[in-house]
Amino acid sequence: MHKIELLSKQHDREQFDCGSEPLNLFLRQTARQHADRGISRTFVLLHDGKDLQMQILGYFSLNLCQLKAESLTPKEAKKLPRNVAGVRLGRLAVSMNHQGKGLGRILLVAAMEKFLEIHNAAGGIGLFVDAKDPSAKRYYEQFGFVPMPSNELELFLPVKTIQEAMGMTEKR
Ligand SMILES: CC(C)(COP(=O)(O)OP(=O)(O)OC[C@H]1O[C@@H](n2cnc3c(N)ncnc32)[C@H](O)[C@@H]1OP(=O)(O)O)[C@@H](O)C(=O)NCCC(=O)NCCS
Repeated sequence: MHKIELLSKQHDREQFDCGSEPLNLFLRQTARQHADRGISRTFVLLHDGKDLQMQILGYFSLNLCQLKAESLTPKEAKKLPRNVAGVRLGRLAVSMNHQGKGLGRILLVAAMEKFLEIHNAAGGIGLFVDAKDPSAKRYYEQFGFVPMPSNELELFLPVKTIQEAMGMTEKR
């Protein structure tokens, strides 16, 4: 079926096209440099078989982030110190030829699992994402991401929601 790996130079970055040039360019030109420098990590979705193993079907990037608790809803903020840490889903993209087949969902679940690994080792209040437009915002909302009061296109998925979602996934 599919597998998810850390991006390496063996993967075919040149052919990847998700329809958004900044997201294509990030994968081709920036992702590996960022990984080498500890800025972010990029994970790629691949076919899990003998053929087309290096073809990238989709990817996501994660980085650590810090934010002011006051940028969250007052209900969330009142339980937290002034400065808190989280993980940012910096980028998420699926190849145009493979969109609408549930691969975005597979990548998001993988990003949540990575978040939980980080959370279990070092904390972090949840996953943050900057939606590039209102359509991307709607995409994230269906997974439980909630818009931040300070910026409608910035969304937050609290650790509790992620833990619940992963619990549901395990029961299936
Ligand atoms: C957005 C993107 C990652 C979604 O990936 P995908 O593999 O096509 O999405 P999935 O097939 O997993 O879709 C899961 C669900 O989201 C819905 N969906 C897909 N794109 C959507 C959108 N733009 N807005 C709202 N819902 C959307 C699907 O209908 C599906 O719902 P269903 O399970 O009820 O049928 C992909 O279309 C993409 O790479 N787009 C270009 C780059 C981009 O916009 N990235 C977002 C970064 S801010």
